[in-house]
Amino acid sequence: VNFFILLLFPKCNPIPENVSPGTEVGIINVQDRDSETNRQVRCSIQQNVPFKLVPSIKNYYSVVSTGQLDRELVSDYNITITATDEGSPPLSSSKTVQLSVADINDNPPVFEEQSYSAYVSENNKPGSTLCSVSARDPDWRQNGTVVYSLLSGEVNGAPVSSYVSVNGDTGVIHAVRSFDYEQFRSFKVHVMARDNGSPPLSSNVTVSVFISDVNDNSPQILYPAPEGNSFMTELVPKAAHGGSLVSKVIAVDADSGQNAWLSYHIVKSTDPGLFTIGVHSGEIRTQRDISESDSMKQNLIVSVKDNGQPSLSATCSMYLLISDNLAEVPELKDISYDEKNSKLTSYLIIALVCVSTFFLTFIIIIMGVRFCRRRKPRLLFDGAVAIPSAYLPPNYADVDGTGTLRSAYNYDAYLTTGSRTSDFKFVSSYNDNTLPADQTLRKMVYVCRSFPFSITNF
Ligand SMILES: *[C@@H]1O[C@H](CO)[C@@H](O)[C@H](O)[C@H]1NC(C)=O
Ligand SMILES: *[C@@H]1O[C@H](CO)[C@@H](O)[C@H](O)[C@H]1NC(C)=O
Ligand SMILES: *[C@@H]1O[C@H](CO)[C@@H](O)[C@H](O)[C@H]1NC(C)=O
Repeated sequence: VNFFILLLFPKCNPIPENVSPGTEVGIINVQDRDSETNRQVRCSIQQNVPFKLVPSIKNYYSVVSTGQLDRELVSDYNITITATDEGSPPLSSSKTVQLSVADINDNPPVFEEQSYSAYVSENNKPGSTLCSVSARDPDWRQNGTVVYSLLSGEVNGAPVSSYVSVNGDTGVIHAVRSFDYEQFRSFKVHVMARDNGSPPLSSNVTVSVFISDVNDNSPQILYPAPEGNSFMTELVPKAAHGGSLVSKVIAVDADSGQNAWLSYHIVKSTDPGLFTIGVHSGEIRTQRDISESDSMKQNLIVSVKDNGQPSLSATCSMYLLISDNLAEVPELKDISYDEKNSKLTSYLIIALVCVSTFFLTFIIIIMGVRFCRRRKPRLLFDGAVAIPSAYLPPNYADVDGTGTLRSAYNYDAYLTTGSRTSDFKFVSSYNDNTLPADQTLRKMVYVCRSFPFSITNF
């Protein structure tokens, strides 16, 4: 009737979870104060626990584990032990004992994800957060406390720690430096999670960092070379038809995708209707046939833009020379490109001044006796073909009886200013019915004789 169930626990209480099956974890002792047969006692244990009772010496029982224990599944057991005597009727009594399972560091930290990816735009601020990793460890206290760290490794030859850092407590991964997409587009780091057990358990995970492009590079023009370095001129044949390929602007952009998708536009040109540029090819073509009236020197300002947000651009100048003659190219340097009209005006002024000076000079020559003497022999030998009309006195037509010479003057005046480009040719009169040389010579002699001043010198 009166039981004493003495729990001689623990042999070890709490029981370490790693005890092997069959390990004796405790001893109980049962006492019945009744006499004789009634003192015979049988003990039993509930069925659903991994323990059994093994009779030991008189009224002593061993509590033996029957299977693996796992603290992470069941951390304590309420074991109910029932004692029944042999009496009639039998009496029984039961007692519940609590059996705790102690932790063993048998679980490594496990990352919540198989791998992690972080996406960051280039030119990020150092210290910015990339992502965070997290690992769980179901063990108890320090056996389940996770500490994160970077596994040593290299990224582009530099230690990985110079690229990212991980917060040991939180698993938050920070960028240590600013990344450059043009240098590398992604890299991998390995993060280890370790518990604080003794010995510690760990696992690792791969974190891939993907750097995305930012439009931080302007287009770079390879051709034509930047101004100042060289003076490049493209020659356009005068016979070029509309649609002819004249030149090509070549540019590159270090960015990628839309940020490197270049478009070309002519922003300024000497003759806006003459040339066109392929928006994406950069090819410069004539838009129509070249005509005589087109200015020989053509200047195009081309803008190259990428398609980024916001877009970046670069400009270049393209010098085009409509000519078939390479020898004309160097003279371009002397001439201002933008002042086509004022240039023409200045030439006209120079020409007018030259013509005036020329005539003035000859009037002086005619008036001066000595000068006329020197000129006469030259006229006889090499000046027979052309007679400057200025030599002729106003009454010349009356002197010449035949009247044929009057309409047959070829007078070409060349005004030379010293520059080849400023050669101007003025034809005052032209007639195909030029007299034969000998006839002209005769007239010449006649003309000179008719000069009142020159007769004496013949
Ligand atoms: C064991 O019993 C105690 C109180 O007696 C109770 O708080 C605990 O929840 C029980 N444990 C189980 C596993 O039943
Ligand atoms: C952690 O596990 C070790 C054995 O791996 C054990 O000795 C220790 O008591 C455990 N610590 C805690 C707080 O349970
Ligand atoms: C990382 O984990 C893998 C298995 O997940 C293991 O094979 C490897 O040895 C670990 N590396 C380190 C440095 O712990």
